[in-house]
Amino acid sequence: MPTRTPQHEVVFTPNPRQWKAMCAKQKYICYGGARGGGKSYYIREKAVTMALKYPGIKICIVRRTHGEVEKNHVNPLRAILCPWHAKYNASKYQFIFHNGSLIQCDYFNQDKDASHYQGMEYDIIFIDEATNLKEEWLSQYFEPCLRGVNNFPKHIIYTCNPGGPAHQYIKRLFVDRRFLPDEDPDDYVFFPAKATDNLALMQAQPDYIKQLNKLPPKLRSAWRDGDWNVFIGQYFEDFVDAPAHYNDRRLTHVIDPFLIPKDWPVYHSFDWGYRKPFSMGWYTMDYDGRMYRILEYYGCEKQNGMSVPDTGLKWDKTKVFRKLREIEDHHPLLRGRKIIGPADSAIWNKDGGPSVGETAEEYGFYFDYSDKDRLEGWQQCHARLAFDEDGYPSFQVFNTCQDFIRTIPLLQYDDHDQEDLDSLGEDHIADEWRYMCQYRPMKPIKPEEIYTPIYGSDPLNQFA
Ligand SMILES: Nc1ncnc2c1ncn2[C@@H]1O[C@H](COP(=O)(O)OP(=O)(O)OP(=O)(O)O)[C@@H](O)[C@H]1O
Ligand SMILES: [Mg+2]
Repeated sequence: MPTRTPQHEVVFTPNPRQWKAMCAKQKYICYGGARGGGKSYYIREKAVTMALKYPGIKICIVRRTHGEVEKNHVNPLRAILCPWHAKYNASKYQFIFHNGSLIQCDYFNQDKDASHYQGMEYDIIFIDEATNLKEEWLSQYFEPCLRGVNNFPKHIIYTCNPGGPAHQYIKRLFVDRRFLPDEDPDDYVFFPAKATDNLALMQAQPDYIKQLNKLPPKLRSAWRDGDWNVFIGQYFEDFVDAPAHYNDRRLTHVIDPFLIPKDWPVYHSFDWGYRKPFSMGWYTMDYDGRMYRILEYYGCEKQNGMSVPDTGLKWDKTKVFRKLREIEDHHPLLRGRKIIGPADSAIWNKDGGPSVGETAEEYGFYFDYSDKDRLEGWQQCHARLAFDEDGYPSFQVFNTCQDFIRTIPLLQYDDHDQEDLDSLGEDHIADEWRYMCQYRPMKPIKPEEIYTPIYGSDPLNQFA
């Protein structure tokens, strides 16, 4: 071990927010939520402090790519640790401390990188910019590595900003605090940190906040204020859910339900899924051509009354259409109505036995083929979300359609096609809504516009 002098001691100066997160004892800790809050610094300070305090502890720091982990963690750690506190093994990306502790730097960029974590044992796992990883990677691969026959603290620690494939997962656990039966709320803690908490940055670069202030409004809300309802890359950033306006229906797409007049048409639209959820949405249209999503049946697994994201019910097609038939025959908004509409044209693909489309017909669902032009369809969805000068859009959704309201704001742009939606997201309801927007539903004719005989004489009762 090289001889250390006082100037080689590792000195961290956590700000008050970082200090609170440093002392947290919960198993799952999330720190951050906005840009520049000192997230990466916090990871390094907690990792090194634990490595020095608990000789022999095993720690892993993960980022999405190798380049990111090198730039954000390996290089700064080398500067403070080597050679006085640890040796760096460049081929294994490992810091081996003289006291026997280990900090492994790693990445998780694609499914095959799961192999880096199989059979590994760590006491603390840090996942920097965790929302950039896929939800299934976070939920499946790290937990089994958190073990060790010792008394060291065990934590999975996430840092992140709003946005990215795991946005919904992190938001559910740490921001909304909606837990599944096997998740203990006491295990989870969130420390929201903003750039203003980063005293070092505020002193060194006082105009950093001014830079954030200049961002476009939605990006500013996510990066400056840590607003988890908006984020960069959000496909439907024009979708507004404003509970204060559910009743007056202005400047919001989500509204309170109302009774549908008898002469308004009712449509349905369907997207098939087995392992992934299927989606049936019912719509109506008023005299002005405004479309309303009035009801949905989303074939998504539920736990504790909550949808398990992107997880299908695995119902066979007969069970699906039997259920949908029952709903159309008995639901007060639907019964007695003639209902038509589109479905994903893939349901007519033959794959041995009767197609999904044929089974639908056995249950009285005669769907039309959906339009295949995705980009045109998404444009129609966006066009319907635009507010007119009085604050009313051409599409609104009843606040009872909870899975529409949950999934639409989380969808993101496709990295490979600037205009398209990323189909890795939970896009089944969006697809089904898109089929409907492309279907050109007809608006009803106002009763006073319906022709009535001039003299009021209608002996055959044709206009009653
Ligand atoms: N407690 C601290 N003492 C001294 N410098 C700090 C402290 N916390 C953060 N910094 C410095 O502030 C700057 C921003 O911090 P950091 O990179 O950790 O933020 P971040 O939240 O990870 O940012 P981003 O969202 O861009 O990833 C860095 O230069 C970092 O070294
Ligand atoms: Mg960072």
